[in-house]
Order: sequence, then structure tokens, then C-alpha cells
Amino acid sequence: MDGILFKQVTKRYPHAERPAVNDVSIEVPAGSFVVLLGPSGCGKTTLLKMVNRLYEPTSGAIYLNGVDIRQMQANVLRRQIGYVIQQVGLFPHMTVAENIAVVPELLHWSRTQIDARIDELLTLVHLPPGEYRARYPSQLSGGQQQRVGLARALAVDPAVMLMDEPFGAIDAINRSNLQQEMIALQNSLHKTVLFVTHDVDEALRLADRIVVMREGRVVQYASPCDLLSHPVDEFVRQLLDTDDRIRQLSLMRADSVMAPIGPAPQVEDQPTINAEDHLRQALSLLLQPGIRAVTVMQDGQPVGRLTLEQVQRAGCEGE
Ligand SMILES: Nc1ncnc2c1ncn2[C@@H]1O[C@H](COP(=O)(O)OP(=O)(O)OP(=O)(O)O)[C@@H](O)[C@H]1O
Ligand SMILES: [Mg+2]
Repeated sequence: MDGILFKQVTKRYPHAERPAVNDVSIEVPAGSFVVLLGPSGCGKTTLLKMVNRLYEPTSGAIYLNGVDIRQMQANVLRRQIGYVIQQVGLFPHMTVAENIAVVPELLHWSRTQIDARIDELLTLVHLPPGEYRARYPSQLSGGQQQRVGLARALAVDPAVMLMDEPFGAIDAINRSNLQQEMIALQNSLHKTVLFVTHDVDEALRLADRIVVMREGRVVQYASPCDLLSHPVDEFVRQLLDTDDRIRQLSLMRADSVMAPIGPAPQVEDQPTINAEDHLRQALSLLLQPGIRAVTVMQDGQPVGRLTLEQVQRAGCEGE
């Protein structure tokens, strides 16, 4: 299988009463965005760190594209994986450009290649290179540091990204912007992403699928819609607060429930919204007189269509 496969992975720290990660078996398909969600101490970071072998499982195995990661050299493995941590971890004595160049330099890329890549990545994360290349981390806001951390993790174009609460320390507005940018990035880069958060709204917004964890175990592994409509137990129900339907709509992306359309021309007179917009926005358009559907746009192209029925169904009614 391409992607990451966890097979009965258990991690027990020395002297711990119970395992930090307990018999976890999940598949993260290549190109999917999977969020690890759960309360503090439930084992999210531990699970993540076993993927790039910062920790080794006590038992079980992890496969990357079908290969047991124990068969790979740790440094070779880590170069295939972009890693973003909560405290960003930028080197304070290095400029933004130098920070981004760390791994490309380890890999002996040419100077021209590295410089071009730095500019490309800074542009990608919306930090104009002319303005930001030469700055030091202390001269950046928290959100900007986080963007540089993301650019650095993307430097050698790894297929896999591990992100541990990357937006944890950022205020609500910047956080929302970064989430939106993350969705747009993923729509164009299609990385295999394992993303840790304990922010439910962030998980629902970003994830293709969510792993809900509790005390080291996986409680449920499902799409945001399935989690909202069929929480397996009271813990998941309360965690997601599944009773508030309008809130649910404002957390779900238009592209998560739209009916995809081919490159057909946009139907005239239909309002449009962006793929990463919320269903609640779609709903308010659909409630206007004479509107039968909204066209969902991505990169200026129509990619799907949403009707009132679809939005209502996506309200994730329980059965
Ligand atoms: N290096 C370590 N040595 C011993 N115990 C550890 C170590 N790291 C984590 N633990 C313990 O393992 C459990 C899981 O920790 P982990 O950091 O994976 O949780 P988490 O879900 O990431 O929590 P948070 O949301 O607070 O970051 C906790 O009980 C923690 O105390
Ligand atoms: Mg953690």
C-alpha cells in the first residue's frame, strides 16, 4: 500500500503505567490529509514521532509505501518526510533563507537550485522573498514563523508531511488564514499528511479523515461527515459536540459534499463559491429565491455543484 500503514503499533515508555500508544492499526493512504485528534496526553505526538523514528515502537510495525521503516536508515527516512513542530524550531541565528536551505544543503543541491527553491517556497507561503529572505526568526510574527517552518518542511518536496499542532500558538484570525492556505496547498501538492491538533474545528476543516484517540487507542477513524453523523460513543459525541447542526455546516468544506463535475462550462446564473468555503456559505446562497445550485470553484475552474438537498444531507443527520 502507498502511504503510511500502522500495524498494531504500541509504545510503552519506561516506567509508564500504561502504553502511550496502544495497539494502533490504521492506514493513511498516499495523498490523503489525516488528522490525529484527541485530548492532551492521548498519544498523538508519540504516534507521529514513531513515523520518522524519533521514537521506536515497543511492538508492531510502521510501513511507508509498503516498506517497513526499520529497514530504512533513519536519516534517509527523515529526508522523505517534512516535519513541522509546534514550537516551529527555526534556527534563531539563521536567516529565513538559511533556515529553508538546511536540508537542500545537506543534499548538496547547487546554489542556484537552492536560491530558486527558497524563492519558490516563500512565494508559496505568501512571504514575498524580497522582503523576507534576509530576516531572522525574531523579526517575524508567530504566524510568519510558522509559514517559514512550513516552507522549510516542504524544501525537498517530501511526499509525507508530519505536522504537530503547527498552528497551535497562533491567534484565531491568522490561524484561520493559515488553515485556508493549508487547504489550498494540499489541493495542489497532494502530500500524505499526518496532522496533529486538539482543535476540533481545525480537524473538521482540514481533514479527509480523522483519527480520534483516547488514552493511546484509536476510538474512531472516519471522515468528518461520518464522525459527525455516526460518533461511535459518547466520548466522540461530546468531543465533536455533534448536536449543533449549523455549527457543523460552518465547519464543513464545500468540496467535501459537492457533486463533482467535469470541465463543463459553468451553468449560467448560478452563484459560485470556492472549494474551501464553508457549507454554511453555500446554504445562505441556496436559500435565496431562484437559486437551484451553486457552482464550486477551484483555481478559477468549476469543479463541482451543490444543491440544497446535498447541503441538507451533509448536515450529517444521524440515523
Ligand atoms: N519522552 C517521554 N518519556 C516518557 N513518557 C512520555 C514521553 N513523551 C510522552 N510521554 C507520555 O506519553 C503519553 C502520551 O504523550 P504524547 O506527547 O504523545 O501526548 P499528546 O497526545 O501529544 O498530548 P498533547 O496534546 O498534550 O501534546 C503521556 O502520558 C506522556 O506523559
Ligand atoms: Mg503532543
